Amino acid sequence: MVNWKGLIHYYREFLPVTEKTPVVTLLEGNTPLVLSQDLTNAVGPKVYLKYEGLNPTGSFKDRGMTMAISKALEGGSKMVMCASTGNTSASAAAYSAQSGQLKCVVLIPEGNIALGKLAQAMIHQAQVIAIKGNFDEALTLVKDITDHYPVELVNSINPYRIEGQKTGSFEVCDYLEDAPEFHAIPVGNAGNITAYWKGYKEYKDIGRSTQLPKMLGFQAAGAAPIVLGHVVESPETIATAIRIGNPASWKMAEAARDESGGLIDSVTDDEILEAYKRLASKTGVFVEPASAASVAGILKLSQKDYFANHKNARIVCTVTGHGLKDPNIAIKNVTKPVILDADIKSVLKEIGL
Ligand code: F0G
Repeated sequence: MVNWKGLIHYYREFLPVTEKTPVVTLLEGNTPLVLSQDLTNAVGPKVYLKYEGLNPTGSFKDRGMTMAISKALEGGSKMVMCASTGNTSASAAAYSAQSGQLKCVVLIPEGNIALGKLAQAMIHQAQVIAIKGNFDEALTLVKDITDHYPVELVNSINPYRIEGQKTGSFEVCDYLEDAPEFHAIPVGNAGNITAYWKGYKEYKDIGRSTQLPKMLGFQAAGAAPIVLGHVVESPETIATAIRIGNPASWKMAEAARDESGGLIDSVTDDEILEAYKRLASKTGVFVEPASAASVAGILKLSQKDYFANHKNARIVCTVTGHGLKDPNIAIKNVTKPVILDADIKSVLKEIGL
């Protein structure tokens, strides 16, 4: 959209802001919904990718962060804090920088955060603290600190984060001129599935859409507490963004699943990597591994004929973060370039001309 002023400006009537709210924006939102012909051919229904990696800091977190940081400022906060597997910290750091006055502190699990995300948090001048523990432990610490000190928590248990993130489903409905039949989404701390479901329900309630999608959530097999029905003490997955064993919005994710008649399933790291490479090589969309969980999930379901009676349906997959966030994974999964002399004959021979 020409002259896009950010999602708070565009969806103001659906958000808890007033004329007095100081809007902190990097012009997030308005991300493309890309049709994947390859996945459509494979699965049956039309498959669209909600390409959230094209937000200002490269992930969907910016939708929630424009709200959380604006409201923190409105409330007079001086400091914000989050635990993060990487993207939340990158986003919180960038929006705090743009606010011009908030100090941002982030707790990350040592050794389990993708390189690009760490670079972002640091270059935006957040105070970055690596914890000898996982995301769940970091979040417990952040909750404890923000409960007792004048520091605003900007994880997705902050309700303003959910409010901002629900605009993802508004955009999907605006683009498709109704809600899709299915919405597939990766699940980590479970804020985003909660937010999308809230958005779909609100749009239907006011008549901007006529139906609700079935919500299809996907966790990584080594970090699948909701699927297993119990906390996972030591979650492990290549998709470090969703390496979470005790999601804060667990109950809300189950409600989204049950109210929509959908499901929450798990996908293995191999399935995630296959979908990750497939998206990049056959649709031209480069995402980070966690994002590919939504696509791995619908490929798994289609093999079980889940979509057999839904040929005319539309599936939207939220692909949550940009592939450049995690360059190491990309490099590990490709063949390295050949090295040739700077000589035309050898190049022509190599490319078969
Ligand atoms: N995809 C990506 C790329 C993420 O960074 C996250 C969460 C998710 C999916 C899952 O979303 O937590 O709302 O269910 N990342 C958080 C973080 C935990 O700290 O950046 P969720």
